[in-house]
Amino acid sequence: MTIAIVFTDQALQNMRRSLLNWYQREGRSLPWRNEPDIYRVWISEIMLQQTQVKTVIPYYERWLKKFPTVQALAKADQQSVLKLWEGLGYYARARNLHHAAKQVVSEFNGEFPEDLENILKLKGIGRTTAGGILSSARNLPLSILDGNVKRVLARIMALEKPPAKALRELWEVSDQILDPENPRDFNQAFMDLGATLCTQKNPSCGVCPWQGQCKAFQLRTPTDFPRKAPKKKVPTKKLVAAIAFNGQNEVFIQQRPVTGLLGGLWEFPNTEGNIASLTENLFPQAIYKHSLETVFHAYTHFKIELKPHIYFVSHHQGDRWVKMTNLHQYPFSKAHLKIIKQLSNHQQLSLPLEKNHP
Ligand code: ADE
Repeated sequence: MTIAIVFTDQALQNMRRSLLNWYQREGRSLPWRNEPDIYRVWISEIMLQQTQVKTVIPYYERWLKKFPTVQALAKADQQSVLKLWEGLGYYARARNLHHAAKQVVSEFNGEFPEDLENILKLKGIGRTTAGGILSSARNLPLSILDGNVKRVLARIMALEKPPAKALRELWEVSDQILDPENPRDFNQAFMDLGATLCTQKNPSCGVCPWQGQCKAFQLRTPTDFPRKAPKKKVPTKKLVAAIAFNGQNEVFIQQRPVTGLLGGLWEFPNTEGNIASLTENLFPQAIYKHSLETVFHAYTHFKIELKPHIYFVSHHQGDRWVKMTNLHQYPFSKAHLKIIKQLSNHQQLSLPLEKNHP
């Protein structure tokens, strides 16, 4: 297969040198950089998937306090793993980390694999994550292709296809451009370039070490790249949730099935149907109290609008009634955390209850 542009050896050497010089001056100092513990590097790379550095740092630090080794993670229960991930999104990442830690213990004698073939056997590790981990922790010459790198490459090549339609070409160029002498610093620099200069909007081409090689800059239209795939319409799901309190000031929550979207997280009972049939099924004698503000949340493939309604239930039924002050022990999705926030504000303000049934 031919690729869009082939750099001469001289061009490649110039690009490597200018990127590494820039990285020496401007590279970010991050907690997982120059970290020899491959377990730590793994955790950082998984957290950094689709998530910005500044969001990741506090999660990374809390995680390593609680699970300092792969053994500690393998022994943990899933709820405490999800609790530490709460709010970071894409929860399959946390479930896969947990699963992979158990694989390391059971299949690899507790030693994190350090070669491409075996590291790829771990759940949640694909080619770019493997390259990220092994180049960073062991300075192995493996290329990467995450979102930032795709954007930078699409621009220097002025790639006419959306990156998702050109993965083979992009991997080839990432392989070609990687500095085999300094794979660790090169890959870290590549990601920093994408995250700090070659940003989606308002890229800082004026100070970019690769300006001279960048086709999109030469065309004066850097932000026209990467080309966008046709937009799919994102549907909105309208949901209602029942927030049921009992006489002990406990609230009813339930756990989602462990597989699938938000698997294993807790939530208030909710439905796309109507609130009356939901409450009739779960709490036949529930008394409606009042409603909270609709909460909005965007997932990758859909958005939700979730309207919470508060009920009083005189009898205990069902299996999980929790004191408001203990809700923080359970991992919830972002949308339901927004409901909890409203509930705690309400309790502090003791707002008068409305009488109208929704
Ligand atoms: N994104 C993915 N891995 C990263 C890393 N090691 N540093 C900065 N951003 C990243």
